[in-house]
Amino acid sequence: MTLSASDLRYRALLEISEAFVACREYGALLETLWGSLRALIRFDYLALVRYDADRATVRVEALAGDLAQHVPVGIDHPVQGSPLEIVLERNAPFYCADVAREARFRPDLMETFRKFEIRSGFWVPLTRDGRNHGCLSFGSRSAGAYGAEDRELMEHIARHVTIAVENALAFEEIRELRRKIEDEKIYLEQEIRQEYRLDEMIGTSPAIRKVLKQIATAAPTGSTVLIQGETGTGKELAARAIHQASRRSQGTFVKLNCAAIPPALLESELLGHEKGAFTGAISRRIGRFELAHGGTLFLDEIGELPLELQPKLLRILQDGQFERLGGTRTLHSDFRLLVATNRDLRALVQQKLFRADLFYRLNVFPITIPPLRERREDIPMLARYFVQEFAARMGKHIDAIPSEAMEALQNYSWPGNIRELRNVLERSVILTAGRRLYIPRDAFEFGFEGASAAAVAPLADAERRHILEALRATAGVIGGPKGAAALLGLKRSTLQSRMAKLGITRSARGPD
Ligand SMILES: Nc1ncnc2c1ncn2[C@@H]1O[C@H](COP(=O)(O)OP(=O)(O)OP(=O)(O)O)[C@@H](O)[C@H]1O
Ligand SMILES: [Mg+2]
Repeated sequence: MTLSASDLRYRALLEISEAFVACREYGALLETLWGSLRALIRFDYLALVRYDADRATVRVEALAGDLAQHVPVGIDHPVQGSPLEIVLERNAPFYCADVAREARFRPDLMETFRKFEIRSGFWVPLTRDGRNHGCLSFGSRSAGAYGAEDRELMEHIARHVTIAVENALAFEEIRELRRKIEDEKIYLEQEIRQEYRLDEMIGTSPAIRKVLKQIATAAPTGSTVLIQGETGTGKELAARAIHQASRRSQGTFVKLNCAAIPPALLESELLGHEKGAFTGAISRRIGRFELAHGGTLFLDEIGELPLELQPKLLRILQDGQFERLGGTRTLHSDFRLLVATNRDLRALVQQKLFRADLFYRLNVFPITIPPLRERREDIPMLARYFVQEFAARMGKHIDAIPSEAMEALQNYSWPGNIRELRNVLERSVILTAGRRLYIPRDAFEFGFEGASAAAVAPLADAERRHILEALRATAGVIGGPKGAAALLGLKRSTLQSRMAKLGITRSARGPD
């Protein structure tokens, strides 16, 4: 049984549409077309032409036929002088029965047709919902190659190709978006791992215990938390601890420092923008609101949020909806908001530098982290922790912090709070050669203050403390290679007689 021409056409169409559903790549798409159509219609080349309306350019995206080896693809040309220009003008397919007599084509295109002896052509628009993606171009070496019936089939095929092109475009877009989101998440998570030990808020003073309790109370509620405190007190650490203890701990923790970004760019950092939304917006960018979807958004230095952005933030917090800059689509993001500031927000409100309505919206659950000078009892623990951390990192063995050094640490005013303490100890560990921590005198940026009293204490006191420190470090063991005598570079008998002279007895050593 032989198949009729219409059966063949039907079968070809089925083949094509099946192949297109899965096709995401133009070259493969065109090969499929070439294979299925060649038995039905005479053509010597087949091209998929893409149109970029913004730039008014066209480019051959894929080409099949013997021309393919000679004509380069992927080169942009102006739409003027191309067959697509005529297609767009007519808003209909364009059939040219004798290419040599067509005066509207660009000279180099005419030259190509002449060189490859293309005589007639048919160009079908790839248009859907009023949007043109380009055209499908059929060419033949015979003049007047295509009859009405052929053209009808080609138009039919073009409708399938349009959908395939739209799919390919959508896939491209999704791939690009996913890549961007993943990039930003990886970056954020790396930042967390490098800089922070998540749940390590150290301290046992009543002041810090109160803060830890507030964090534990606020974390599971999902409410906005306003974290206040001087610089370096641990506001960011507290924010990360809240995120970790919340139901969103599996989501992303997204941070934006309002003081670190020029005010003009802040809005687009938060909202994201579409390609071309403003000069320099060369591609679409996802904003922090969107990135924080399902997670936590931490706005640091909220006191620096420019006044003109404040009503916008308030509106977004109230209805959870926003648009990207230059975008028309309304987006929704479900994030938990944490904010921090080292400024007195209430005072800013009084000075009209911060909007009262936004302040009340943020001041749902305020937590104030006390400065280090109000919880000096935490200093020894913090100091030991940081010394251990840096010594391990630098491969050093430091097992004692001399008591006069510890006293100096406890007496200092710490205007830079825990961050300053950490930096001082990092420098000290770097400069320490032996097993006892050496703190350089110039380590304290604002002078040694209360430490001076300890520095001029009688020599006997210093010696006494020194020996006690060594005994503590060795858990009371005096002799042997790991004993206090070896640590101090003394003979066992010498140490024992000095201890006797200074009145250091077993009980005076204490349980510690
Ligand atoms: N309770 C704590 N235990 C251990 N480390 C802490 C504690 N609090 C803060 N730190 C450490 O001190 C440093 C400063 O903390 P953080 O960045 O959270 O302070 P901040 O209040 O956000 O500072 P700034 O106001 O300057 O932004 C960090 O290295 C942090 O890990
Ligand atoms: Mg901070």
